[in-house]
Amino acid sequence: MTEPHGGISGLVVRWQRRHGRQSLPWQGTRDPYRVWLSEVMLQQTQVSTVLPYYERFLQRFPQVADLAAADADEVLALWSGLGYYSRARNMHRCAQLVVNAHGGRFPQSAAALEELPGIGRSTAAAIAAFCWGERAAILDGNVKRVLARVLAFGDDLSQAGAVRELWQRAEGLLPAKPADMPAYTQGLMDLGATVCLARRPSCPACPLQDVCAAAREQAPERYPVRSRRTRRSSQSLWLLQARARDGSVWLEKRPPAGVWGGLYCLPVFDSREELACAVPLAARRRLADRPPFLHVLTHRDLHLHPVAVELPLAALGGRTGEWFAGEEWPSLGLPAPVRSLLSQA
Ligand code: ADE
Ligand code: SF4
Repeated sequence: MTEPHGGISGLVVRWQRRHGRQSLPWQGTRDPYRVWLSEVMLQQTQVSTVLPYYERFLQRFPQVADLAAADADEVLALWSGLGYYSRARNMHRCAQLVVNAHGGRFPQSAAALEELPGIGRSTAAAIAAFCWGERAAILDGNVKRVLARVLAFGDDLSQAGAVRELWQRAEGLLPAKPADMPAYTQGLMDLGATVCLARRPSCPACPLQDVCAAAREQAPERYPVRSRRTRRSSQSLWLLQARARDGSVWLEKRPPAGVWGGLYCLPVFDSREELACAVPLAARRRLADRPPFLHVLTHRDLHLHPVAVELPLAALGGRTGEWFAGEEWPSLGLPAPVRSLLSQA
């Protein structure tokens, strides 16, 4: 079989231009600030979730300097609900670095972008490809799957050496022309998100079907190979939902590292006993256990156990936190599960 003109990259580019996603708000721009914002938001988060956040961020911070000058709390508040809050903290630091160390302009190469906080190799390549047509390869989770299948790449991707090898193969597949880089890069992302799905990929609808080694083997789901599954851990946390008589709720700022770092949150405890010890003796028998629920993080399942109680304003005086009235919650950075708990009450 002769390869169509342009090989794999040509097929991806043509398919992207005809069938790929075309009208996402960050596709109409080559402004690295906007492209960076979208790519960081899209790390581990779906397009439909990102869209409203992206618009709100740009409205509030039209330029990188606006973001750099913002208060960290406000950035976290605008991020609230997107999850993986280290992205927001890194993003804020990155904006400050761009302003203070790069004269307010993003450095114009993938290698230089990768030096900035929160920008990994794949994100740096995506920004450089979209903005300047740089011939840099992306390799996020979706693209690993697409390329491992197209190449029938059978090495174990839980080994660093195999990942390095796949990066090299990815670089070998890049289109020759810089002008094709945006469509190629977006095309690989679109294929991974809409066609070459982890389970039951739609090979008959895929532009790569004729050149795909895994499809030829009729075994796309055999790739990528990962022997070590990233092990999920699970953890139980108890959340004290303390209300004052006026309806305000006690919230504390989380330490910067760890789960929900830097966000406002209900007081968190490792056990119900610890939680009980934090409230005055007289209030302990009024503690009301609410239904526990599961909150799924990337590598961890959190089993959350809310415990509600009404307390006098002075009751939590020994702790570092504040009573917040209902009108104040929307403007605080709150973890999504806490926000939904508060809205149910
Ligand atoms: N995921 C990461 N980057 C993306 C992009 N540019 N478009 C759609 N999904 C993405
Ligand atoms: Fe994925 Fe099938 Fe396309 Fe191969 S042909 S890249 S397995 S969707």
